[in-house]
Amino acid sequence: MNEITIIKPDDMHLHIREGQIMQTVIKHTAKQFARAIIMPNLDNPIIDAEMAYNYFLDIKKTVPDFEPLMTIYFNEHLNNDALDRIQKLECVYGIKLYPSGVTTNSEKGIRSIDDCFSIFENMESKDIPLLLHGEVNDPSIDIFDREKVFIDKYLVKICKSFPKLRVVLEHISTKEAVDFVVEAHKNVAATITPQHMLLNRNDLLSGGIKPHNYCLPIVKRSSHQKAILNAAMSGNKKFFLGTDSAPHFKHQKESSCGCAGIYSALTAIEIYAQIFDEHNEINKLENFASKFGAEFYKLSYNSDKITLIKNDNFVPNKIEVENQELIPFLAGESLKWQLKIN
Ligand code: NCD
Ligand code: ZN
Repeated sequence: MNEITIIKPDDMHLHIREGQIMQTVIKHTAKQFARAIIMPNLDNPIIDAEMAYNYFLDIKKTVPDFEPLMTIYFNEHLNNDALDRIQKLECVYGIKLYPSGVTTNSEKGIRSIDDCFSIFENMESKDIPLLLHGEVNDPSIDIFDREKVFIDKYLVKICKSFPKLRVVLEHISTKEAVDFVVEAHKNVAATITPQHMLLNRNDLLSGGIKPHNYCLPIVKRSSHQKAILNAAMSGNKKFFLGTDSAPHFKHQKESSCGCAGIYSALTAIEIYAQIFDEHNEINKLENFASKFGAEFYKLSYNSDKITLIKNDNFVPNKIEVENQELIPFLAGESLKWQLKIN
């Protein structure tokens, strides 16, 4: 197949930051995607309805035809009234829980998940989805095991206690996560990034350290990569597209203490198309990219379509923002699929 037309997709996990960088990166996303779940981990996190609404308006000013699906940063002030205010805001689609210290801008995250159960209960009764960065923050746990330990220690209990709570395990990186989601109740889903399908830890660490392949959860050994690939192509509606595109400037990545996050938004749908095609599953791309996420979030499918064509598509070496550089995922490589611009 040399051309495919699909319903315009949604990116169900996206970081866009604020200010000039937001204005640059959201345009890249909006070319390909109709909507995106916007992560709340700004330097000053989005912790209530008012902040979410202001952020929503900021994004809309830049890309009026794009639909930002806002989220709130899980915090201890989410009492009944706060949740009611959040629920009344039609632009909010979930609450994102970061264990404190686990990733970029998670310092104000949750210290004790066990103390969150009354909020989970209230979210379940109000049908507000819980989005999880599913890694423990315990520094004594090996970084490659932090997702698995989170599942065993917390997620099993959360899903068992709240069977109606919609839960998204974000950016899954292990076979254990795939198996957990497959076996869990129907309200549990997971997002899958391009990097967790394309990379394993050799791509990060072998033959020289590659800071632009560093993200959290960290990419694992190839058996996990295969499990993620299979999950994305299984046709199971619990697995859907979420890029976790997370821009950091070049100097922040190429540093003695480099930031976690891969900027994939520039060519995200083209990368996914290439991966699906290489596995002879391009026909499954539309469900994964444009339908399953919408169904989970109780949204209608987008009415617009996009067309992808087989064509050499060079990924630029860098993008300039405010005299700084962003290095896109797969910079300098040539992709085999390209978005057709009408
Ligand atoms: C994300 C970021 O930079 O905001 N980084 C990352 O490595 N994925 C945060 C996150 O999703 O963990
Ligand atoms: Zn993320």
